[in-house]
This record gives sequence, structure tokens and C-alpha cells, in this order.
Amino acid sequence: MSSSTATRVAFVTGGAQGIGEAIALRLAQDGLDVAVFDIAGKEELLKAVTKKITDIGRKAIWIIGDVTNEESIKNGIAKAVEELGSLDVMVANAGIMHSKPVIEMTPEEWNKVLAVNATGIMLSYKHAGIQMIKQGRGGRIIGACSVAGKQGFPTAAAYSASKFAVRGLTHAFSQEMKPHNITVNAYAPGFIATPMLSGSNDDGHGEDATPGQKTAQPSVVADLVSYLALPNSYFVNGQIISVDGGWIYQ
Ligand SMILES: NC(=O)c1ccc[n+]([C@@H]2O[C@H](COP(=O)([O-])OP(=O)(O)OC[C@H]3O[C@@H](n4cnc5c(N)ncnc54)[C@H](O)[C@@H]3O)[C@@H](O)[C@H]2O)c1
Repeated sequence: MSSSTATRVAFVTGGAQGIGEAIALRLAQDGLDVAVFDIAGKEELLKAVTKKITDIGRKAIWIIGDVTNEESIKNGIAKAVEELGSLDVMVANAGIMHSKPVIEMTPEEWNKVLAVNATGIMLSYKHAGIQMIKQGRGGRIIGACSVAGKQGFPTAAAYSASKFAVRGLTHAFSQEMKPHNITVNAYAPGFIATPMLSGSNDDGHGEDATPGQKTAQPSVVADLVSYLALPNSYFVNGQIISVDGGWIYQ
């Protein structure tokens, strides 16, 4: 990444709450200006997050959009670049949970989960890559995987499949971006205390607690992302890094 002293800019999808909010605030504390992006209906939460970022002393904007819609993520990045000056760190964090046995699942339910958690991350990666290549000074692209992207769990087939897709995408894209000094990594959390885990963002299903597995606060993920976003993390590339308290060993 550039040795320029210009303030770096992060873009966080699903930045209105939970892990995305914690990452946005942590990157602001690290000195980055931040654009937070989330779906319609999250305006008040997004405003509150941008207020917290400006209270930290960084610039912030909030953008309504949908990661499953290519024009939406493309325009969102363009707005961030126009208002904040560049795009240096993409955190493709937006995701949805879904719990259902496969024998009860409809193609529509399956496709919805894959659209947000896999296609949405691909589109976020793609347009971040295009912008960072144009800038010519490297960058950091970081995506949301999960323990469920390392092992399948009962009633989590669509979610697991979508997170396995993030692994393959991250491995492939990291190699495509290597010549541009852009690293591409993903975080794979265990149970993190967010609205997703409590089920309020899950069409009423929620995630079943796995016995013996503890829940951590979103800051454990934000701390990892803080490192992956650093210029000095350049030698960590194409990795899917578990932050799960020692649950899945791969
Ligand atoms: N909480 C956990 O235990 C856990 C564990 C492993 C992985 N993850 C992953 O971490 C990420 C963040 O999870 P969280 O727990 O903070 O979830 P959350 O439900 O609290 O927040 C997710 C955010 O993404 C937004 N979002 C959903 N669909 C979107 C779309 N199409 N476009 C833009 N934004 C959209 C939601 O509105 C929400 O604000 C997700 O990808 C999730 O799969 C979470």
C-alpha cells in the first residue's frame, strides 16, 4: 500500500449494527474515515454509527443500498470515493442467517441466502478491486466467513454453503489481486453476540446454540479486522482466519 500520508478510507457493508458496526468504529479509532452501507430501514442505526465515528474525530457517511444489487454496491462505492476521497479497505460484512433442514428448504430460501452471503460478497469484492486497481496504491479487502464456512451444521445448509463460497472466492480473488498489492482475507467467527445471533434478523429462526461453545463480543472480530486492514499486514493474504475461541481447527 502507498506510503502516502492521505487518510485511508474504509467501506463497511452491513455496517448499521453488530459486527459491522464494531468494525466501523474500530477502523475509525485506527484513524480511517468510514462509509457504512446497509439496507433500507436501517437509516436510524446508520446515522447513530456515523455520529459515533465523527465523535471519534473521523469523517463518516452512511449509504443505503443492497449488496445483492450490482448497481447499488457500485454506486455506493462511487459515493464513498466522491465524498471521502478514496477506497482503501473494503469490509464485505453484510450477511443473513437462515436455519432450516434441507428437506424443508425451498429454492427461494436457498437463493436468498446465497444472494446476500455469496453473491453480495463477490460484488463487494469486485467493485472494491476495480476502484483500488484504479487508484494504483494497493488495498485491503476483507470478507465475512464463519465457522459454518469451515464445517456444515444441521439446519444451516444454505448458510454453510454460502460461507464455503466465501472461502473459495477469497482464495481465488486474493491471487487475482496479488499483482496489485491488494490483499484479500476473511474472518470466520464463532458465536458473536449480535442481533443475528439473537435471531432478530433471521425471519424468526435464529442460530441454535451449540453446547460448549461460548459467545464473544463483536470487538473480537473488529480487533482482527483492525490488523488485517493495516498496511503492515501485507504478508497475510488469501486466509480465512478463525476467531471462534478454538472451535474449528482449519
Ligand atoms: N453473529 C455471529 O455469531 C456470526 C458468526 C459467524 C459469522 N457471522 C457473519 O458476520 C457478518 C455480520 O453478522 P452480524 O452477526 O453482525 O449480523 P447482523 O444481522 O447483526 O448484521 C448484519 C447486517 O447486514 C445487513 N444486511 C443484510 N442484508 C444486506 C444486504 N442485502 N445489503 C446490505 N446490508 C445487508 C443487515 O441489515 C444488518 O445490519 C455476517 O456476514 C454473518 O454471517 C456472524
